[in-house]
Amino acid sequence: MADILKTVTAGQVDVDRLPRHIAIIMDGNGRWATRRGLPRTAGHKAGAETFRRIATYCKNLGVQYLTVYAFSTENWKRSADEVGTIMGLLKRYLQEAVATMERDNIRLHFFGDMSPIDPELQALARETDEITEHLGADAFQANVCLNYGGRDEILRAARRFAEDCAAGKCAADELDDALFSSYLDSAGIPDPELIIRPSGELRLSNFLLWQCAYSEFYYTDVLWPDFDEAELEKAIVAYQARDRRFGGVKK
Ligand code: FPP
Repeated sequence: MADILKTVTAGQVDVDRLPRHIAIIMDGNGRWATRRGLPRTAGHKAGAETFRRIATYCKNLGVQYLTVYAFSTENWKRSADEVGTIMGLLKRYLQEAVATMERDNIRLHFFGDMSPIDPELQALARETDEITEHLGADAFQANVCLNYGGRDEILRAARRFAEDCAAGKCAADELDDALFSSYLDSAGIPDPELIIRPSGELRLSNFLLWQCAYSEFYYTDVLWPDFDEAELEKAIVAYQARDRRFGGVKK
């Protein structure tokens, strides 16, 4: 395993202490393109390639889950051209996934409210869900957040829980962390130990608000299209140097 590491940092990735789940806010595509005199959409195309590369690297390293923020509930405010390009890139990725995920043993799952998404894209997502169900639970899994917002996810979960209570399937006083988590888009998936945001912005932007309770955050100025395997390793090395106490005290 260690021979695939591309470490350029003074530290070393400890492959026995990898985060099981890494989440990434794929930020900086627009600035990457503008700096090159290209349209913003060129940045998203480059960003989609970076996603493929980083997902492959996470799988090869032995990280089990990679969750990426592809399109937020607020991203509809962007131009029709930009929204159309991002949806087109997702469609292409899903078409490729339908053809290759079984062969490559890669599970794919969506977080977010898919109801306003193009029906063709929704149908492809249903196809990838079906393939995912047949793949072993220990296979690498990519989660793509599409029309996703952390607050929206929590509200949808709360509504579904209230409906189940009204239908007599459960009671309000039964609700605890584990039960509420089972209503979220991330049901059954461990919380991310590491959340990475490239491009120099120091915000969470409505990403995984419930799941980030004890996540370690890593920020870098590198723009997402320039983020590579070595940058991922730097983030993992930084994560492995953190003292994670979960509200307790060091033993
Ligand atoms: C944020 O950068 C990026 C997005 C809103 C879109 C991300 C989408 C992709 C990378 C393409 C599709 C993904 C997959 C999984 C195939 P920004 O545009 O806000 O950058 P800026 O802050 O520099 O303007």
